Amino acid sequence: MNFFKIKKNKIPFGKPLIDNNEIKSVTNVLKSGIYAHGPRSSLFEKKFCNFTGAKYSSTVSSCTAGMHLFYFALGIGRGDEVIVPAQTHTATAHAVELAGAKPVFVDCEIETGNIDPKKIQKKISKKTKAICVVHFLGIPVDMKKINYIAKKNKLLVLEDCALSLGASFNKTHTGILGDAGVFSFYPAKHITTGEGGILITKNKKLYNKIKLLKSLGINKTFLERKTPGIYDAIEVGFNYRMSEIHASIGIKQIEKINKFIKKRKRNFEFLKKNFKVNDEIHILDSNNIKSKNSFYCMNVVLSKNLSKNRMEIIKNLNKRNIGTSIYYPQPVPRMSYYRKKYGYKGNEYLNSAIISDQSISLPVGPHLTKNDLIYISENFLSILKKFQ
Ligand SMILES: Cc1ncc(COP(=O)(O)O)c(C=O)c1O
Repeated sequence: MNFFKIKKNKIPFGKPLIDNNEIKSVTNVLKSGIYAHGPRSSLFEKKFCNFTGAKYSSTVSSCTAGMHLFYFALGIGRGDEVIVPAQTHTATAHAVELAGAKPVFVDCEIETGNIDPKKIQKKISKKTKAICVVHFLGIPVDMKKINYIAKKNKLLVLEDCALSLGASFNKTHTGILGDAGVFSFYPAKHITTGEGGILITKNKKLYNKIKLLKSLGINKTFLERKTPGIYDAIEVGFNYRMSEIHASIGIKQIEKINKFIKKRKRNFEFLKKNFKVNDEIHILDSNNIKSKNSFYCMNVVLSKNLSKNRMEIIKNLNKRNIGTSIYYPQPVPRMSYYRKKYGYKGNEYLNSAIISDQSISLPVGPHLTKNDLIYISENFLSILKKFQ
């Protein structure tokens, strides 16, 4: 095979792997006529608990919705502050804003992209109520350090697990290391339901509150009503439920998660090994033996010199039909909404800025074949050489 000949079909950055099982499952729901409040979301929750080891789980309409619910349920709002990483998806900070609280950004470690525990304490004030961590690209945060800081300052801990399904720290799955964790099932994620999310926790009281508030604060679910149409609103809440159609896809997807993670690990390790020959790049990965990565994608951080040509390198990769992305395009405090609202001095969050401005995200998903991996690695290395 000639790897310098352009591949006919594009290698996508992310691709949901859906087969007849999901299609049949959705068809069955459509035929059943039960599209909400049915048994599928409960079954998906049960299967999710089995996989993660969580005691309780509650499906939600997205990861953002689940994180918003967490703050709302715990009364975190106006006048409160929440510590969040600067290097993350804007949704992590938006959930805090939606609750009416203020996100206080903390820079990340350059080796992992995760929030730097050493930089948290000085950002904690009397108003701080919680720390939200993100297991960046599936690399688990050192939760021992985070929980120590949280305990010392009496703070709650939320884990944004949008990219960390299958990742664990100290043999415990991400999401149950703090007070709660929320996952995303957006199409590019480890598993998908189209759109969707799930909150997991070991706290029964929090779980019950989440269940109530995701369903408009109504005291009886549709199935619990003895007389149809009779219920009471005991709290103000949202409609953040997951539909049965989405849940039916999740049930089939979660059955494949071990196979998916195995392939992601193989793909990541293959590329990492091949990229070793170039010392002008640095690959974000776990540096803690207690951490088990779930390999969402591979962030290759280019040296300062090479990064001047980042856009050209990306263009070359895309021209050669290799899908790429950037995780994430800007540190969140630099995004227009946050910059305007809270000001951004330009000399803060320097590691986050390096990751945003100097990295390229490459695919490692289970959709890649062995030939795709060889093609990516040969082409990436030769493109880098052109710009060194
Ligand atoms: C770290 C992180 N948190 C939250 C989200 C939002 O997830 P959702 O689209 O399910 O709300 C994303 C989306 O990619 C993400 O990357």
